[in-house]
Amino acid sequence: MKLLVTGGAGFIGSNFIHLILERRKDVEIVNLDKLTYAGNPANLKAIEDDKRYSFIKGDICDAEIVKQAMSGCDVVVNFAAETHVDRSIDDPQSFLKTNIFGVQVLLDEAKNTGVEKFIQISTDEVYGSIERGSFSEGDRLSPRSPYSASKAGGEMLAQAYFVTYNSPVIITRGVNSIGPYQYPEKAVPLFTTNAMEDKELPIYGDGLQVRDYMHVYDHCAALDLLLDKGQAGEIYNIGAENELPNIEMAKLILAELGKPQSLIKHVTDRPGHDRRYAVDTAKIRTLGWAPKYNAKQAIKAAIQWFVENRAWWEPIKSGAFREYYEQMYGKR
Ligand code: NAD
Ligand code: TYD
Repeated sequence: MKLLVTGGAGFIGSNFIHLILERRKDVEIVNLDKLTYAGNPANLKAIEDDKRYSFIKGDICDAEIVKQAMSGCDVVVNFAAETHVDRSIDDPQSFLKTNIFGVQVLLDEAKNTGVEKFIQISTDEVYGSIERGSFSEGDRLSPRSPYSASKAGGEMLAQAYFVTYNSPVIITRGVNSIGPYQYPEKAVPLFTTNAMEDKELPIYGDGLQVRDYMHVYDHCAALDLLLDKGQAGEIYNIGAENELPNIEMAKLILAELGKPQSLIKHVTDRPGHDRRYAVDTAKIRTLGWAPKYNAKQAIKAAIQWFVENRAWWEPIKSGAFREYYEQMYGKR
C-alpha cells in the first residue's frame, strides 16, 4: 500500500507515520507538508532514513505539487490543516485556504488519479458545543469558531465528492488529542511546559469547559483500523468518552509535576469558547477499536513525554513561539 500523508510533519500526522511504519511492513509513505510554524521535521527524525518513507515540502493548495506527491498512491490521509482555534479568531482566511480550498485540490487530484481511499481528518468541533449527552455522526453540524467552520467546509466538500463523483471518501471526527510532538500552543503541552518552567497556566474564563482528552496513539490506531475497515461515504467519531474540565486538567498537571496550584491564573475567556464537546463512539467501536488510555492516563503519559523531551520543546518555546505567546496572552 502506498499512502500519501499530508501534514505529516505536524502532531497527529507524525504520530500516524510512526505508527504505520511500525505496524505495517509492506507500506510506502509520501509525506507532503508545507512546514508551517506547526510542521517540524524533528518529529520524524527517527524514521527519516527509512526507505519506505519520503518527504516533499509543499502546499496542499498547489495542484502541481499535489499531483506529483499523489502519483502512484492508493490512499490519501489528509491531516494538513491550520488547527489552532485562537489563531483562527485572529486570522480566519488562512484557515479557509488550507482547510477548504486545500481539501478541494486534494479531492480533485484523488479523483483524477483514482485513489482507493481518501481519509479526511476532521474534528468533533464541527458539531459545536453540547451541554448534555453526546453527538452521533448523523447529527447536524453547528461550528462556532472560524477553525471549526473551515473544517466543516472541508468535510462538506468531501461528502459532495462522494455523492457527485463517487470518490471513496471517509471522514473522521476525532476529539482533543494529546501526546508526543504536540505544538505547545495547545492547552495540555502549554500548561505542562509552563509548569516545568514555573510559569503561570492561563486558564480561559472559569475553566469549567469540558474536553474529551484522548491519547494520540489511540487516535492513530483508530485511523490505522479505518485503512482496512473504513467504508467509503461513512463518518466516524473517534473519542475516549472521558471528559475532564480544563481546571481539573491543569490541577492534574501541576500535581504530577509537583508544582504549586497557585500557578493557575484565570485570564479573559476565548471569544465564542465552546463549553463542552462530546461524541458517541459506538460506530468505530463496532469495528473493533477501543482506546487504551482514559483521560487521566493520557494526560500523565503526555506530561511524561514532555518531561523526557525538553530538547524537543525548548527550542520551540524560546523561538518564534515566544512572540506569539506574548502577543496572545498580553491581550488577556
Ligand atoms: P498541527 O497543527 O500539529 O499540524 C498541521 C500540519 O499541517 C503541520 O505539519 C503543517 O505544516 C501542515 N500544514 C498546514 N497547512 C498546510 C498546507 N497548506 N499544505 C501542507 N501542509 C500544511 O495539527 P494536528 O493537531 O496534528 O492536527 C492534524 C489534523 O487533525 C488537522 O486536520 C486537525 O484539524 C485534526 N484534528 C486535530 C485534533 C487535535 O486535538 N490536535 C483533534 C481532532 C482533529
Ligand atoms: P486547545 O488545546 O486550544 O483545544 P480546543 O480549543 O481545540 O479544544 O484548548 C483546550 C481547552 O483549553 C479549551 O477549552 C480552551 C482551553 N485553553 C485554556 O484555558 N487556556 C489556554 O491557554 C489554551 C491554549 C486553551
